[in-house]
Amino acid sequence: MTDQSQYKKGSVVEFDDNWKIRSHEARQNYYTSGRPTNQIMMSFKNQWKVYSSFIKNPQPGMKVLEPGSGRGSISCYFAAHGFDCYLLDTSAEILAVAKDIFKENNLPAHYVCEDALHMSFSDNYFDVIVHCGLLEHFEDYRQALIEQYRVLKPGGIIISNIVPGKWSVQKAFGFINLFLKFVHGLLTKLKLVNKAEKAPKKPLYRSDHGSEIYIEVLRSLGAAIEYQGGIFPVPSLSYSPAFPFTVMSPKIEKFLVWLWYLVLAIRKMIWPKRHPWMCSEKWGQHVLVVARKPINQKLL
Ligand SMILES: C[S@@+](CC[C@H](N)C(=O)[O-])C[C@H]1O[C@@H](n2cnc3c(N)ncnc32)[C@H](O)[C@@H]1O
Repeated sequence: MTDQSQYKKGSVVEFDDNWKIRSHEARQNYYTSGRPTNQIMMSFKNQWKVYSSFIKNPQPGMKVLEPGSGRGSISCYFAAHGFDCYLLDTSAEILAVAKDIFKENNLPAHYVCEDALHMSFSDNYFDVIVHCGLLEHFEDYRQALIEQYRVLKPGGIIISNIVPGKWSVQKAFGFINLFLKFVHGLLTKLKLVNKAEKAPKKPLYRSDHGSEIYIEVLRSLGAAIEYQGGIFPVPSLSYSPAFPFTVMSPKIEKFLVWLWYLVLAIRKMIWPKRHPWMCSEKWGQHVLVVARKPINQKLL
């Protein structure tokens, strides 16, 4: 177990506990080689499409690190496209889940149980570093980025997907989730549906920073910024207090996936030059920063 005292704020212990408490939902597999069947799967599939567009000259066997990998949902896509994936997490519990998910999908990967703030990899080791939902959990985000930059090869990229609790499309449509919860509560009282599961969850540290502060650190290290903006331009809808761990019934999820693809088709017509999953930082559920280490930068 990682020593908590070294952290300013942010906890890896609570994450591990939460993965244990929610072990059933943690087993959800959000990778598909076909059409997504729920909203979260759709999100990861579109993330992959956006991220892969930043990888110049992709070669089989390129090394990819996902620090704070959890189940490794995004790594599944990299592994399925021939990348050599390293999943790193302090939670042995969730790494075991990731291992099962990769096995079920017949995908290879390496599993590393260690701290993303102090990694054992040598300098200039990875071609790509990608993470989803990690940096906002560190007060010491600077150390996390310094460490990632150290293990990144010159010419390689860091793809940071950050989930701050700021104003976004999720908040704009929050009233729909309130309405869904109300209707579901009513149907539960009438015994027409089963009670939604409560989400026993330990509170985690989450910052509200936008892209600026991460970019400041990356620029100070010498990185060139290739993208700064929003991603995930549709809300996640659910009646469940456990969301995003729990998805709704297959029929409702299928309908929402269809609806969001329609929204993406319309977005593509309005903004034909960028992938429709990309959006303004204020609107996106997530913030995306893509930074490249210059090819001639050998040392920090
Ligand atoms: C929000 S989850 C990411 C979920 C992931 N994107 C997925 O597909 O399941 C953040 C992950 O970061 C891990 N984590 C938190 N602090 C860490 C640290 N210092 N080093 C490595 N992993 C850490 C947690 O255990 C957790 O699995």
